[in-house]
Amino acid sequence: MKKIIFSGIKPTGIPTLGSLLGAMSHWEKLSSDYNCLYCVVDMHAITIRQDPKVLRENGRNLLAWLIALGLDPEKNILYFQSNVPAHAELSWILNCYTYVGELNRMTQFKDKSAKNTENINAGLYTYPVLMAADILLFQTNLVPVGEDQRQHLELCRDIAGRFNKVYGDVFAVPDAFVPPVGARIMGLQNPTDKMSKSDDNANDCIYLSDSPDSIVKKFKKAVTDSDNQIKMSEEKPGISNLLTIYACVKGITLAEAEAEFSGAGYGHFKQSVGEAVAQTLAPYQQEHARLMADPANLDAIAAKGAEKASEMALKTLAKVKNVIGFN
Ligand code: TRP
Repeated sequence: MKKIIFSGIKPTGIPTLGSLLGAMSHWEKLSSDYNCLYCVVDMHAITIRQDPKVLRENGRNLLAWLIALGLDPEKNILYFQSNVPAHAELSWILNCYTYVGELNRMTQFKDKSAKNTENINAGLYTYPVLMAADILLFQTNLVPVGEDQRQHLELCRDIAGRFNKVYGDVFAVPDAFVPPVGARIMGLQNPTDKMSKSDDNANDCIYLSDSPDSIVKKFKKAVTDSDNQIKMSEEKPGISNLLTIYACVKGITLAEAEAEFSGAGYGHFKQSVGEAVAQTLAPYQQEHARLMADPANLDAIAAKGAEKASEMALKTLAKVKNVIGFN
């Protein structure tokens, strides 16, 4: 039996080069070693107010990106969270096995409610319970999570353990999946911070949908330093980041990347990195465009994914309802 990996991805914008070269680069390989579920978590997205049109579009876009980047819908389960009602059902039940004291300790809730003072809704507060339900529904063994989601995963493990203690082994208790080290891509304007779409400066971040022109322009504006040496160094975060990106997209080592540009000027270097990135993204962009142009096909993929996910989820949900005494 293959182990089960569950991954939830929020449909809140276009994925970035950072996510492609980091987490996403392992995904294709995972499909052969594990049973993987990739859930577009639209129910989590509405904890922040969303424009309906934008939310729907972001969801479809994300699904198409997942496939374009190499997740084969035949080998992975790809679906929208809101299409599988079991998430909401288990979430309610687990709310009754989660303490307010636990939720009060969630640092993400504290951060998010500090930022959204006009909409501190109950969903924002119970978000980690829905996340626990996502994971526990599938007897998930492994959850790939970044640092920011560690605390939520710990809570999920606590809830599962608590429930199992009362009712027997109903849930698998999931572990964090630490993927083989992917590249950590930093922002082009703030090379000491991770590349992120939430950065205020649009030039900081390369979106997978950026045109070749705008990619090269953004790289040309990338922040570097003034000593004109192209080498990896802690004192040279901008140049190091560009070298890392170049090595990743070319599939070469950092030493090879350094050698290729030894003695070159920054202008030429930045231009070359930009062109290499644009070239790497082009086939993904074409595949994405092809998928978006055929909505019926995307709908069919999402429907099939939801059907497979439901089938798995309903087994767990039936067990849960049975042990707690529902008629
Ligand atoms: N909370 C995660 C995030 O903000 C998204 C998510 C929702 C998730 N449900 C999940 C991630 C289950 C892993 C497993 O990124």
